Amino acid sequence: MNILVIGSGGREHALVWKISQSPLVKSIFSAPGNGGMSDLATCVPLDSSNQDAVVKFCIEKDIGLVVVGPEVPLVAGLVDRLERENITTFGPSAYAAQLEGSKGFTKDLCAKYNIPTAAYGRFTDTHAARDFASEKGAPVVIKADGLAAGKGVIIAETLEQAHDAIDDILGGQFGEAGAELVVEEFLVGEEASFFALCDGDNILPLATAQDHKQVGEGDTGPNTGGMGAYSPAAVMTDEMTKRTIDEIILPTVRGMKEEGHPFKGVFFAGLMITEKGPELIEYNVRFGDPECQVLMMRMKSDIVPALIASVKGDVDKVEMTWHEQAALTVVMAAKGYPGSYNKNTEISNLDQAASDENTYIFHAGTKKTDGKILATGGRVLNVTALGENVTNAKDRAYSALDQIDWQQGFCRRDIGWRAVKRESE
Ligand code: AMP
Ligand code: GLY
Repeated sequence: MNILVIGSGGREHALVWKISQSPLVKSIFSAPGNGGMSDLATCVPLDSSNQDAVVKFCIEKDIGLVVVGPEVPLVAGLVDRLERENITTFGPSAYAAQLEGSKGFTKDLCAKYNIPTAAYGRFTDTHAARDFASEKGAPVVIKADGLAAGKGVIIAETLEQAHDAIDDILGGQFGEAGAELVVEEFLVGEEASFFALCDGDNILPLATAQDHKQVGEGDTGPNTGGMGAYSPAAVMTDEMTKRTIDEIILPTVRGMKEEGHPFKGVFFAGLMITEKGPELIEYNVRFGDPECQVLMMRMKSDIVPALIASVKGDVDKVEMTWHEQAALTVVMAAKGYPGSYNKNTEISNLDQAASDENTYIFHAGTKKTDGKILATGGRVLNVTALGENVTNAKDRAYSALDQIDWQQGFCRRDIGWRAVKRESE
């Protein structure tokens, strides 16, 4: 079978890497792909927002499965369009992708189906939003309703900050994505992510992970797309995982079905493990980046039958096995990220750095020109390793990273710190 993977990040490199190990696969295409994938896939300059062009490409290349990596094409309805053309496509419909595309949609679904989440209100009016925030008291969380590339959430420590955030969002800071906002209660606890495939009716639990969103060590500084991640997340004990499935994931599956829009694809549930148990912070409707990188390293089974089962409706028949080991990934980003940074700086010694069989370097913002790897994005490399525990995976990942020659790059040195601390106790 020929497979097309849409996207260009570390997540898509990890998916391509995992898919390439499947005996079911003939050729892999990646649109647009990146500089690290070219040994595994043919990178094609296909724009996923041009749905006609994607359809044409799939027909021409006899694509048997399309895997959509990022959220934007999902929310824009790429899956609906490809399915109408009878092209098998992994991912949710545009309606179901509102679970990520509209925070208000998800909160209302939670309210209707009794899914534990922070108390909230939805607003388009500044005064009403300010009054609600004042009533809740600081700290309070203000969220643009729509997709804002991870920047639409403000944790307001004071009411003044909350009021400013409300004014900014409804004043157009995020354009259409902030035409409406959600004000919600601040949850206290430890965060974790849980992943499960869904076919509309059944789920196939995958694994847990924890990421590091902030740019600075000790989880400080501005938020990024993610500076590193590891799996499994210790806070997700068997009991917490079971409660997450029973109290959050399955009610969502039933709710979406009852609404007439069954969810197919991957649930990426962002959770806060509070005193009361797991509460939903948000859903994403695609794999996390960089969480996908650690999941793919730990997944033993062939991923292709599982992705197809999510489309066809029988994920409950898929058996999936995992490496017992932990995986950890460290993001190398261009100096200046998440602000402005230089492009086209050269990276070398990557082959040497990844020579250990437990280590793999997934590329994100890179391109290959004349055999050289150049950095083209903010997040550039994901140095990923398996180990007996998180501490061991961390040591391996950093020892690989330290062999990479890239003067313009930086990373956090403390990825996995919560798990490492637990493991040393
Ligand atoms: P989101 O984009 O919804 O995942 O939010 C980004 C980050 O903001 C989350 O990963 C949390 O760290 C934090 N956050 C969001 N909502 C809440 C909440 N209600 N209480 C505490 N922290 C939150
Ligand atoms: N790492 C967070 C995300 O993919 O949304």
